[in-house]
Amino acid sequence: MPAWSADKLLGGPFVVHAGQRSATVVWILKDGEATLGTEPGKADKTAPVLRAEKTSYTGIQPGTTYYYDVLGRDEGRGSFKTAPSGPADFQFVVYGDTRTRHDMHRRVVAAVIKHGIPDFVMHTGDLVANGADSAQWPVFFDIERELLSKTAFFPSLGNHERNDRQFYDFFDVTTPYYSFDWGQAHFIVLNSDIGNVATSQAARESFWSEQVRWLEEDLAKSQKADFRFVTAHHPPITAVARRQGDNPQMTALIPLFEKEHVTAGFFGHDHNYQHYLKNGVHYVITGGGGAPLYDVDTPPAGITQKVISTEHFVSVKVTGKSAHIEAFALDGSVLDRIDLKP
Ligand SMILES: [Fe+2]
Repeated sequence: MPAWSADKLLGGPFVVHAGQRSATVVWILKDGEATLGTEPGKADKTAPVLRAEKTSYTGIQPGTTYYYDVLGRDEGRGSFKTAPSGPADFQFVVYGDTRTRHDMHRRVVAAVIKHGIPDFVMHTGDLVANGADSAQWPVFFDIERELLSKTAFFPSLGNHERNDRQFYDFFDVTTPYYSFDWGQAHFIVLNSDIGNVATSQAARESFWSEQVRWLEEDLAKSQKADFRFVTAHHPPITAVARRQGDNPQMTALIPLFEKEHVTAGFFGHDHNYQHYLKNGVHYVITGGGGAPLYDVDTPPAGITQKVISTEHFVSVKVTGKSAHIEAFALDGSVLDRIDLKP
């Protein structure tokens, strides 16, 4: 029996970096278990030792469903679609803040599956309560297994990931912010977790100004796309009274979003659903993936379209030159519907 078949699969397989002609399949294995105790030989705490394996495929075909098998056994099998090479109809799902209440996270994933497997999933961050704790990731991957084995995944980094190496390993993240095209839409994923990006104020500021410079260029280059979608963990606007003004670096991006015609931004961090429309840009906060709910006690005047404190997910359907966003509660009822035009 080959050595690898004895390794226990604790995550995946799932696909990241799904492009027109390439994709990476990742799976996470348990190499062993490390114990910690107050006396020699006593195990008060145990943590799995995790190892991410990955394989990248290049030269594959756009707009095609591929089936992979990374272990030569059932649990190593999955499928995904590559990005189309030109305009095409597609649907993606966005949710976030899946940490802490695992039963609720499980219900959110079940609701997404019941709605229909999307072309890809975007996560707005705070996947787990502590990204440095190797015992928490297998729980996340167990809940997500069925969904992630059938679609491609584009996660954003939340503050609860603690900028930990495991996030970068598990999702093969080589650049902290990036963009990609899918059909006639352009997608940007930002790293809004400025608090954990570096220990010195100067390094944090330099990270942020580099990211903003990149964002300005990326948005300027994507003006021909019908739709521009931005995803980040921290919201620029919020109805959660005690958190208003908490993310000035994100709020400062609003004029740029307006100038470069961002269609919609998707954010998390606040555990509820919020939708604002300000100078043509939609701001959707989708943080209802399982974390304890927050009140929506102070909706900003003049721009609020909908705020509701409930678990949910968001689905975006692009059909020809039109698109719409729908927010769904876990019973399948529609919480909000937004029509988008290029
Ligand atoms: Fe957060």
